[in-house]
Amino acid sequence: MTKVWKVDMSAAGGADALAEAAAQLRKGQVVAFPTETVYGLGADATNTEAVAAIFAAKGRPSDNPLIVHIAERSQLAGLTAPPDEAVSRLLDRFWPGPLTVVLPARPGVLSPLTTAGLSTVGIRMPDHPVALQLIAASGCPIAAPSANRSGRPSPTHAAHVLEDLDGRIAGVVDGGPTGVGLESTVVEFGPDGALHILRPGGITAAQLRDALPDVTVLEPTAAEHEQEPEAPRAPGMKYAHYAPRGAMVLVQGSAPEPVLARMQRELDEARSRGERTGVLTYREHAGRLCADHEVVCGTLADLDTVAHELYAALRAFDEAGVSFIAAEACPEQGIGAAVMNRLRKAAGGRIVRV
Ligand code: TXA
Ligand code: MG
Repeated sequence: MTKVWKVDMSAAGGADALAEAAAQLRKGQVVAFPTETVYGLGADATNTEAVAAIFAAKGRPSDNPLIVHIAERSQLAGLTAPPDEAVSRLLDRFWPGPLTVVLPARPGVLSPLTTAGLSTVGIRMPDHPVALQLIAASGCPIAAPSANRSGRPSPTHAAHVLEDLDGRIAGVVDGGPTGVGLESTVVEFGPDGALHILRPGGITAAQLRDALPDVTVLEPTAAEHEQEPEAPRAPGMKYAHYAPRGAMVLVQGSAPEPVLARMQRELDEARSRGERTGVLTYREHAGRLCADHEVVCGTLADLDTVAHELYAALRAFDEAGVSFIAAEACPEQGIGAAVMNRLRKAAGGRIVRV
């Protein structure tokens, strides 16, 4: 029922598949596609019925706005107020790429479901040839949240999309594994002129500061990551759980040995309760802890590898039937800030500091 279009941009035949997928989008169907961050679940952002089908397929609350994806800078003029100088500098530097900019929406263009009734809209131009060609061929701005069931880890392989959504959507364009592995960074300029990072992601705070040396860049505090405020700045924050099915505890500390010792204690206690245990660690500490299932998620020597593998790692615990996971924190430098943001949410706030 859900069609799979395999697309290899280096081979012939990709164009026909993308034309078919684009025709589905134009007809108001929902189609998943790869981006450089995670797979997106796309529909025509101007078509309320099509956007409603995204929310239905995901089981997503409709007060959480969607990101609108474009293929060319010229599409922006029809969707938002003209970008000012600072916004333009961001777009020049980071588009196409994993940066979503929240801007005042041009009234009456996008479906109110896309923006969840807000006067602003988050826009991004993905850095992936399949995504760019599909959006361009569809001829419409494409609303696309991550292509997972609400609350599940985001998909970084087409197989993850099918795990969650087979039979619920028209099709998925399979362009292989995604690159960054975590969602885009969502930013918005505040009335104070500061740039607020609403969701950490593929573009780091340091990269934003480097692009805008004269602008204050504000990162969400650890408290903001953890708490679920009544009225979060990015409404999606309170729904994003990225969670495996098992309970997770995240252990953080300034030195590895006490962290590993505490993780082992958590695992031993869980096992004595009859849990099937899992450990999430990094290549440096592979094989150090005793658990029913170990997932090695990249190397601490290169946090890009951790980001790239994180969501597949979280899904692997579900496949192994793990009911309790002890996860090792990683340093919050560079992309590590986004990794830790997702791990905190996956742990549902169960964080132990040693
Ligand atoms: O990398 C990504 O951004 C992926 C790929 C598919 O492009 N998309 C994605 O979409 O992660 P989604 O819907 O899972 O996350 C959208 C985030 C949510 O946190 C939402 O609340 C926030 O962006 N957002 C969207 N529009 C907003 C707005 N107008 N104001 C504040 N936050 C907004
Ligand atoms: Mg998502």
